[in-house]
This record gives sequence, structure tokens and C-alpha cells, in this order.
Amino acid sequence: MKLLFVCLGNICRSPSAENIMNHLAAKSAIGSQIECDSAGTANYHSGKSPDRRMQAAAAKQNIPMKGNARQFTKADFTAFDLILAMDLENYQNILALDPQGQYQDKVKLMCDFATQHPDKEVPDPYYGGAEGFEYVIDLLIDACGGLLSELESTASKNI
Ligand code: 4NP
Repeated sequence: MKLLFVCLGNICRSPSAENIMNHLAAKSAIGSQIECDSAGTANYHSGKSPDRRMQAAAAKQNIPMKGNARQFTKADFTAFDLILAMDLENYQNILALDPQGQYQDKVKLMCDFATQHPDKEVPDPYYGGAEGFEYVIDLLIDACGGLLSELESTASKNI
């Protein structure tokens, strides 16, 4: 199962989701079947490491942050099984690259998998304070955990 997490810049929310999912999957029976990557709908941070403020918030939860930003491309529609958008704008920008709607069933909103938070979108923390980055980590731990549970239950039905 190849998962792609997508936000705007690929330096805050989506690399956090990627690294949190890798962290949680390492403790799961199906961890070896899960591969994660992340991308941004914009290219203005391509090549950069995750934002330092995001790295600091992740470190508080013992989650190491790896990766370099890249832009989402049409090729990602076929390369990945599931594409997880952090907010509605990301979701719409992804679907705009699939005018025929061939891949729309693969594209989901990350917050649909959260079980402890009512949020519909992962808020963009970029222009705010440290608490916004910490909130993103909490919300993504919830949503990644929910997604992993769904993947585990699908895997157990397919044995
Ligand atoms: P991300 O956060 O989409 O979660 O990586 C942002 C990063 C950069 C900008 C906005 C959001 N920016 O405007 O440069």
C-alpha cells in the first residue's frame, strides 16, 4: 500500500503526516506493507527539509522528521494507492490535475480518518506560533492512527 500525503508547501503538514505514519507503521503488523511519501501542490519549497518549527513540534513527541520537499505531479496518481490531502484547497488542487476524474477515488481528506478531533482540515500552521505546529502533530497522530486501523482491518479481511 503506497500512501502519498499532500499539503501546499510540503515542509510542514504533509512531511509530518509521512513521518508520523512511518513511526506508527513500524509498530504495526502490516508496517512492512506500507510505504509513505509526501508532496506539495506548490513548488516554492522544493528540495527543502521540513520547517524547523515543525521538526521541533515533532521532536516533542519523539517523531524524527526526514525528507525533502517536492511538488505533486500527475504521475503520482498512478504511483500511489491513496493520496491524502491535508485541506480542501489541497484536495481541489489535486483533483484539478485529474479532469477526467479517473483517480478521484484515491484522493481523500486526511481528517476523515481522525477519531478524536472534529476538524475537517489540517490547519496550515505556517504563519502562526508554536502551538499551531503542536496542534498539527496531535491531529495527525490521531488521523494517521485512524488510517492505519482502517488499513489493518482491510488487510485482516484479505488474508
Ligand atoms: P505546508 O505549510 O503546506 O503544511 O507545508 C506551508 C508552507 C509554506 C507556505 C504555506 C504553508 N508558504 O506560504 O510558503
